[in-house]
Amino acid sequence: MTDLANALIDRLPKAELHLHIEGTLEPELMLALAKRNNVKLPYETVEDVAKAYEFDCLQDFLDLYYMGMSVLQTEQDFHDLTWAYLLKVHADSLTHVEMFFDPQAHTDRGVAFETVLGGIVSALEKAKNELGITSKLIMCFLRHLPEEQAFDALECACKHKDHIHAVGLDSSEKGFPPPLFERVFEASRKEGFIPVAHAGEEGPAENVRTALDVLKVERVDHGNSALTDPALVQRLAKQRTPLTMCPLSNLRLKGIPTIGDSPVKKAMDAGLLVTVNSDDPSYFGGYLNDNYRAIHKALDLDEHDLITLAKNSFAASFIPDREKQGHIDAIDKVVEDVKKG
Ligand code: HPA
Ligand code: ZN
Repeated sequence: MTDLANALIDRLPKAELHLHIEGTLEPELMLALAKRNNVKLPYETVEDVAKAYEFDCLQDFLDLYYMGMSVLQTEQDFHDLTWAYLLKVHADSLTHVEMFFDPQAHTDRGVAFETVLGGIVSALEKAKNELGITSKLIMCFLRHLPEEQAFDALECACKHKDHIHAVGLDSSEKGFPPPLFERVFEASRKEGFIPVAHAGEEGPAENVRTALDVLKVERVDHGNSALTDPALVQRLAKQRTPLTMCPLSNLRLKGIPTIGDSPVKKAMDAGLLVTVNSDDPSYFGGYLNDNYRAIHKALDLDEHDLITLAKNSFAASFIPDREKQGHIDAIDKVVEDVKKG
């Protein structure tokens, strides 16, 4: 990798738009919280955890993801988890994050919605004050659970509209297509939450289409399979619907055989508003800049592509339009500085 590309990846201001906070739980913190909260895990050491992180598909990962997060019990735990992520990506020049959280995975095991939200929000506020990182929260509905339970989460979210900006749909895509959640998404939109959804990660292009048509999403998380459908690609390009892609996640969940098969460049070339993200960085072997580095090399991206991806991350964000220009200007300033050497 050239010095210029390396410096650009390090220093370009970036937004991350596809990040599950529970997926940032590093093995060290998992083991420490297990001890602090007296939770039994099938791991004794960091090496045991690393050994277990071999996935053949999304469900393999989800099983360990839900088990791992059982150590998160108090507001302080959620704060510590979130703060650790923010400190890490501050070093990656991240300046804005739109973060998913999975309240049903916690309320289901007796942890109150407010405990989860309180810990995350206090860390996000600290990051705004101390690191200059801005944020929005996206509450995800778990698609393997009945829609009824998603309505319970929505009822909780309605009490916290000052902190929750959008709703999403995650967990097992196979067998749980977007139309199952038509009613709760309609209710969410009526309450003013922006809709997004995971679609086309393991499921067909049809899931991307129904996420758009039935759930009326404003952004598609992953969206890989859309590229198999030229009419859908055309529509996404015309509407400027963003895709939040996650190269290392796709690799580790065997959605793609090699990182060179990541669809990011193909999507850019097709005129899509594509962004690069880490998804669940602790589980998939890399944070935001690791994802940029991996595809830079494997897809032979040039410096213009890197700058476009950084700019796309703000263009595709839910930052008000009037504030986006400031972020684009900040990118141009860094490019100028980096080129000066
Ligand atoms: N896909 C679907 N659901 C998820 C993921 C993912 O990568 N991470 C956390 N929940
Ligand atoms: Zn995801």
